[in-house]
Amino acid sequence: MHFIWETMTETPVLQLRGLDARYGTSRILQGIDLTVRSEPVAVIGRNGMGKTTLCHAIMGMGPICDGSIRFNGVELIGRQSHQIAKRGIALVPQGRHIFRSLTVEEHLQLVDQGGPRRWTRDRIYQLFPNLAERRQSTGSALSGGEQQMLAIGRALLTNPRLLIMDEPSEGLSPIVVDKLVATLQSVLAEGTALLLIEQNLSVAAAVSERLAVMVVGRIALETSARELLADKDTQQRFLGIGAVERFESIGSSDMEHPV
Ligand SMILES: Nc1ncnc2c1ncn2[C@@H]1O[C@H](COP(=O)(O)OP(=O)(O)OP(=O)(O)O)[C@@H](O)[C@H]1O
Ligand SMILES: [Mg+2]
Repeated sequence: MHFIWETMTETPVLQLRGLDARYGTSRILQGIDLTVRSEPVAVIGRNGMGKTTLCHAIMGMGPICDGSIRFNGVELIGRQSHQIAKRGIALVPQGRHIFRSLTVEEHLQLVDQGGPRRWTRDRIYQLFPNLAERRQSTGSALSGGEQQMLAIGRALLTNPRLLIMDEPSEGLSPIVVDKLVATLQSVLAEGTALLLIEQNLSVAAAVSERLAVMVVGRIALETSARELLADKDTQQRFLGIGAVERFESIGSSDMEHPV
């Protein structure tokens, strides 16, 4: 299966080739190939498949990596996380990591560099009017949805070229998830590249037409949102109960991987 985006000639924003990542002797990611260009990409997978490890590998935040992670053509493996962030990648972490005792405004001040730039605090407050109203509220007083907005705002304020979001819809009500999807669509319209990590297929599909399904540390399937939404058997095969056992016993021969 070859996709048109794999044959395009522009330098990818992010290109992973044969990426392995381990914690000590536990090999978590095994030969990940994935390319992000201007079009968003969503990685979906069940609990414990290695999605957060993938985010942390890209950000230089812990796992020991082999293979290649290129950002705008520059190799990231071996660089420190602050250097990676400075190059233009921002992570909205799973669980949001909001400080309980800092106000909304203080969270944003901490990352606001000033100077001419696309995202300013005023623009973050325009994007999230709820946050503007709660400017002086502490992290502990915010709802889950407000915390997620703050985590996104904090990441955008670094003016990234690539935004990575690790399960942003986790724990949010359906109404808040709808707002989140609308927000992501407007962020994309601003020209920021997006790697979205999700467990929720409908959220992933609403934001990204390109989907990569992760099963036990590998990209087991690359497909389109349209195809996967219409195919319950494939959903069950890659995302349902029993997928892990099947992939562990069958190994990579069952993968549907383009390159
Ligand atoms: N710091 C760590 N040290 C050792 N093993 C780890 C560490 N972090 C994660 N793992 C292991 O790596 C595997 C993948 O975990 P990871 O958190 O990447 O999965 P995930 O897909 O993000 O899951 P979830 O959907 O629950 O967030 C799991 O078996 C986990 O126990
Ligand atoms: Mg995770």
